Order: sequence, then structure tokens, then C-alpha cells
Amino acid sequence: MNLDKLQSLLTTKLLGRAGERHNELWDTLDSTNSRAAAIAREAAPHGVIVFAREQTAGRGRLGRQWISQRDAGLYMSFLLRPEQKGQELALFTIAAGVAVAEAIEESTQVLVGLKWVNDLIVDGKKLGGILAEMPAGTAVAGLNGALIVGIGINLSVDSDTLPEELRYKVTSLREACASDVDASALAASIANMLEDRLRMLQQREHARLLDMWKKRSVTLGREIRATVNGREIHGTACDISPDGALVVESNGAGRRERIVLHAGEISIRNADGSYA
Ligand code: BTN
Repeated sequence: MNLDKLQSLLTTKLLGRAGERHNELWDTLDSTNSRAAAIAREAAPHGVIVFAREQTAGRGRLGRQWISQRDAGLYMSFLLRPEQKGQELALFTIAAGVAVAEAIEESTQVLVGLKWVNDLIVDGKKLGGILAEMPAGTAVAGLNGALIVGIGINLSVDSDTLPEELRYKVTSLREACASDVDASALAASIANMLEDRLRMLQQREHARLLDMWKKRSVTLGREIRATVNGREIHGTACDISPDGALVVESNGAGRRERIVLHAGEISIRNADGSYA
């Protein structure tokens, strides 16, 4: 990862162009999301990008650890200060998922699917993920509160070094395209795409954005399992609602029911009846 190279490849107006508070590249950080939140509390503006070569406490969704070995992945966080509030913010995750999938495809020709909410899927395995967080105390100096969009992509992670339960579920760009990817070029492409997709949100092109997400979905039309408020549900993932929630048609206890999932995690049923 090289910040000068990144800068030279940006076509953005705002992302990565935050004036006197520059983008950051750290050798080691606990988490790029935590660092982005910390500088947001010190009034860093919209668009700053934080990178780390390794993370000692990388976070995944639902409180999970994000294993972040040195130079084996792209670990980056965007500090955004959106004008939108509340439910509309869920669409930022949708926009980020579309942008990152498109950027990976543009940079590597590897086809990327999206598993709700925002797992990046290649050949049925997880290539990366996105963690969007709204840390407290960031609406300072008259600025909008921050939304941190953290992106983790496995570049060259060696699956043999991963815990047993992850080994067969995870892939990397090295595995998918049999060559090494230029992290700076990929990061620039992500920033360029993300700015464009955020512009679509700004211009209220929500339906088009959701269609782009749906076209990449590996979830819709599949049998899934999810836990909602402590209750396990089984059903068919049938749609994404206008605010980015997953609509599941369940037929538990002999009656059809439509359940709308705003958060959480799903497992997709395989042909052999197991869940992935
Ligand atoms: C997921 O659970 O799929 C989301 C993973 C997000 C990981 C990235 S790595 C960069 C940023 N910093 C973190 O601590 N997490 C995100």
C-alpha cells in the first residue's frame, strides 16, 4: 500500500481528498475503524481514509474478530459525514457493497457476489466484508456525525493459517486470480466507485442502486436460516426492501409469514441440506 500512488489514481472530488487532514497509513493499528472514529471526534472531515498494514483488534460484524495478518489483506476505513439520518443510512451499506464489488471486478476481473448484508463472495467463499459503524461523539465543530465504513479484503491470506472453522469458507484474491493484486490501485478504485455510488444516494437513485445490489446477490431466491430475537427462522430470501432490509418468506408452523430482517446474519442452505 502506497499513499502517493493511491492519491495519483484517485478521480474523486471528496473521498481521499480531505485537505490538511490527510489520509493515514499505519504500520499497525488496533482497528482502522477505531482510528477513523478517534479522528472523527477530533473534527476530521468527510472523506479521510485510514489504512493499516495489520490490525491487532480488527472487528467484524456481530462482535466477531477480523483476522488481519500483516499485508495479507486490505484494511481500510472511510470517514463519511452523511447528511442523511436514521434508516436511510442502511442504504450506505448497500452502496458500499456495490462499490467494493465493482472495484474488485474492475481491478481483477474476479466476479464478486454479495451475501446480505455485505459479505463479498467469490466462488461461494468469503473474500471480504464491510463493517459500517456510527460512533458516538463525532458530531463536533458543526460537522455531521460520522459514519465509518470499514472494508476488509483478503489479498493473500493463507487459509492454512486460519482457524479450522474458517479454513474452507474463506478465499483471497491471490487464490481467485492466481496473481498478486496492487493494493494501492484496488484502494483507489474502491474510493472512486464509492464516491460515485454515494452520489447516486444523494441524487435519490435508490431503486437503481438496490437493483445493482440485487443483481449481485447470492442470497435472493435461496433457502436461508436466520435467528431473529432469539428465534430461529427458516424460509426463502425473496427481496430487499427499499431501505435495504432482507425480506424472508417463512412457512414455519404451516403458515406463510413475511419477515423483514434489518440486521443479523443468515446462513444459506446448500443442496445437501447443510448451511453455509
Ligand atoms: C464482516 O464481518 O464481514 C466485516 C469485516 C470488516 C473488516 C474491516 S477491516 C478494516 C476495518 N477495520 C475493522 O476493525 N474492521 C473493518
